[in-house]
Amino acid sequence: MGKFVINGQRPLRGEIKVSGAKNAALPIIAAALLADSESVLQDIPQLRDVKNLCAIIEQMGADIDVDKNIITIDPTNVNTCEADHDLARKLRASYYILGVMLSKYGHARTTLPGGCNIGNRPIDLHLKGFRAMGAEVLLEHGVVEVKADKLKGSQIYLDYPSVGATINILLAATMAEGKTIIENAAREPEIVDLANFLTVMGAEIKGVGTDVIKVNGVDKLHGVEHRIIPDRIEAGTYMIAAAITNGDIYVRNVLSEHVKPLIAKMHEMGIELKEDISGVRVKGTGYLKAVDIKTLPYPGFPTDMQSQMMALLTQADNTSMIIETVWENRFMHVDELIRMGADIKIDGHSALLKPGPLTGAEVTATDLRAGAALILAGLAAEDTTEVRDIYHVERGYENIETKLCSVGAEIKKVTD
Ligand code: EPZ
Repeated sequence: MGKFVINGQRPLRGEIKVSGAKNAALPIIAAALLADSESVLQDIPQLRDVKNLCAIIEQMGADIDVDKNIITIDPTNVNTCEADHDLARKLRASYYILGVMLSKYGHARTTLPGGCNIGNRPIDLHLKGFRAMGAEVLLEHGVVEVKADKLKGSQIYLDYPSVGATINILLAATMAEGKTIIENAAREPEIVDLANFLTVMGAEIKGVGTDVIKVNGVDKLHGVEHRIIPDRIEAGTYMIAAAITNGDIYVRNVLSEHVKPLIAKMHEMGIELKEDISGVRVKGTGYLKAVDIKTLPYPGFPTDMQSQMMALLTQADNTSMIIETVWENRFMHVDELIRMGADIKIDGHSALLKPGPLTGAEVTATDLRAGAALILAGLAAEDTTEVRDIYHVERGYENIETKLCSVGAEIKKVTD
């Protein structure tokens, strides 16, 4: 299990380098199975979710070599279309095996995926896409099986621009027969990174990054080298770490266009930000103006930054409101922040925050980003904060305590 013990109120100064994006790395690792030869993936973050997905594809017969942040995947010996159920349950992204294996072999089987407990997480849109492409979908005892003699391109309208459904349908379409059109597709940068990888492998994809993606199926894809984009959510978390401690951090390895909504809100709050080609410098000004936030699909304000922004807004000059529209159960950090002295009221999808000082407390990370928010709150709080169940945080942040300590934070990891 393990916990972080944080001594708060130390201003952070210096430079932090952001790792490769977890949510791009996961579909790209799965997509490497589409090729008929080896792919070399660089800047893969060393995270629990990545290790579990690699273990799944290794059990399916792929040869994997891990050298720190470089993973080499050779899919030539893959011998089953079924993902190990115990491993698949451990992470949400295991369902990308469905799109990949269906596309290449016309058959895939996996258990319904796990992941953060942030709401009812259906996969109806993924399955709607597969069915539209002619696949038979069987759902029994928590296991999903998809089969098609020949997967056929189709026109698919997503009722919601789901990241996972867009990726899974895109993966399935790469080697399907004919043309697939995904309408109301998600536009997240991680989808663009995946499509860039697939295109270099030989896939024919147009419109990625817009809400209409067009894919012409091809017969064959080959392995390539690819560097994963920087993690915009990790970057945003460190940008908030600078602001919440009234510090001064240069967050390196950030594509600033990917963090525009956060930059805009931090500007509104009166924080000093300077973007350049490699990163963003964030400097506290000793004053935080209250703002309202509404989470939306990209390019709106990301739901994955909502809890961290909430930690920051507890330190603003006035009342603020956060509306969560993406997930129905993503306020689990609120009770924990209240333990630290925050004044927050929830009404359905909205949270009303009144500012006030935070004090150290024993709190529990209930999911990945909730854990990140509690660490940020601990950095700002008086005295000592203990964040328990940090395995959630370690699913998505590479060496978070080492990175924060390198700029002056006092965080100790205690494992029991
Ligand atoms: C991805 O999850 C990310 N995970 C999440 O990040 C992120 O919060 C989310 O996108 C939104 O940006 C990964 O990339 C591995 P969705 P995903 O499908 O793909 C509903 C983190 O902290 N929906 O866009 O699962 C769903 O219930 C994680 O790193 C359906 O109704 O998200 C939700 O309300 C947490 N039917 C909304 O769409 C479906 O078939 C968005 O889900 C699929 C989704």
